Amino acid sequence: MSPLPAYERPLIIRHESGLMNKFSRVQSMRPMTHLDGVAVAELMETYGSPLFVFSEKTLVERYRELRDVFSLRYPKVRIAWSYKTNYLDSIARVFHKEGAWAEVVSMFEWEKARNLGVPAEQIHFNGPYKPKAVLDEVLPAGTIIHIDHFDELAVAERVAVEKGIRPKVAIRINLTADGTPQWSRFGFNLENGQAHDAVMRILTGDRLELTGLHCHLGTFILDPDAYRQSATKMVDFANRLRQEQGITLSFIDVGGGFASHNTLKAQYLPGDQATPSFSRYAEAISDALGKLNYPPREMPTLVLETGRALVDDAGYLIATVQANKRLPDGRRALIVDAGVNVLFTSFWYKHDVVPAQEFRGVFEPTILYGPLCMNIDVVRDTLLFPPLNVGDQIVFRTVGAYNVTQWMQFITYRPAVVLISQNGQHAAIRKREDLEIVRGPEQMAPWL
Ligand SMILES: Cc1ncc(COP(=O)(O)O)c(C=O)c1O
Repeated sequence: MSPLPAYERPLIIRHESGLMNKFSRVQSMRPMTHLDGVAVAELMETYGSPLFVFSEKTLVERYRELRDVFSLRYPKVRIAWSYKTNYLDSIARVFHKEGAWAEVVSMFEWEKARNLGVPAEQIHFNGPYKPKAVLDEVLPAGTIIHIDHFDELAVAERVAVEKGIRPKVAIRINLTADGTPQWSRFGFNLENGQAHDAVMRILTGDRLELTGLHCHLGTFILDPDAYRQSATKMVDFANRLRQEQGITLSFIDVGGGFASHNTLKAQYLPGDQATPSFSRYAEAISDALGKLNYPPREMPTLVLETGRALVDDAGYLIATVQANKRLPDGRRALIVDAGVNVLFTSFWYKHDVVPAQEFRGVFEPTILYGPLCMNIDVVRDTLLFPPLNVGDQIVFRTVGAYNVTQWMQFITYRPAVVLISQNGQHAAIRKREDLEIVRGPEQMAPWL
């Protein structure tokens, strides 16, 4: 006699979310029991919960896809890894082993890249804050700075005179592209002529060698046409500088900003449907570069500073259910052991999250709270989720960008980070914090 099916208690649920969409109410959801062939249970047992896990396979695949689709259309391509997006040594090294240069925005990031063995001449240095002490060190070393404002330009010239060097520099420009908010606080404005003034100032000063133009439009830009517009404006400017001043640029840097497969809170379609492929960005940018008035052999290198679109898909966060609750409005709530201090990006993304083990039962509107004693600690707004038990695990996907750099040590320790190799080995690439690590820089006031 076959066993009776397990009893499931009947439930009446008020429809609160998920009804009014074309996917209807019940979503299909599969448990994610393994990450790149490694059992979540094994990872939990070895490293504890919560835990960030990165897939080296995905990092390498995304990198090669980006490189290949761009170099198919425009053969001189350089990818400079955006350190701020994820500067864990092991993650950066995966990209450097693939041939990436580094893109940094602070002395800390520069030192981190140098410590990993990146030659100073293979570092693009961005950002609005490069004090003289920084330029004193990075310019003689051969790092290419992207000048952000006139004051920095003057300091770079001073360093050039004092050190008796002629540094290679780029200027950062900002411009308008339909459909994206203008990041006008960085660099020299193109449309009002400020960028041209900056070039003339460099030429007249005759201390710096202008080798590149840079424009980082913004971030999570879902419309490839914005890049067509920005690259076209940069190309027109480069053509003008060549014609008027005889400047031959060695690179045009279109910055980062390609969208990952995440889903913004304001977005209707999920990221895996809304995010353009790398090819669509590549087409838009290479079409514009085709308008460069340069002889083929002198065409500038296209520099990409792609951050989140390379690393987001490769990152997971495993968390453990600590409690189930029923809120007064009828929603189910789960308390998990990873909060917004760790999953910083949950402030603006609807992170994709799935159970890590088989489940059964009725999907209900569920809100996921972190462990912090703070009202803002919501790691996922209401989603349709199956019932889980205390001690069950959940996996947040697409969390590889910005979390392990912007996370905060707040109330609890930050979790360990693990890398799974391409052949299924795994190792901690950042230790779980403990009291000794967190107290490390503290000193007791001598009078206490
Ligand atoms: C100058 C610069 N380049 C590259 C990036 C990486 O951007 P994303 O992660 O959106 O690709 C950033 C991020 O803000 C940036 O400021």
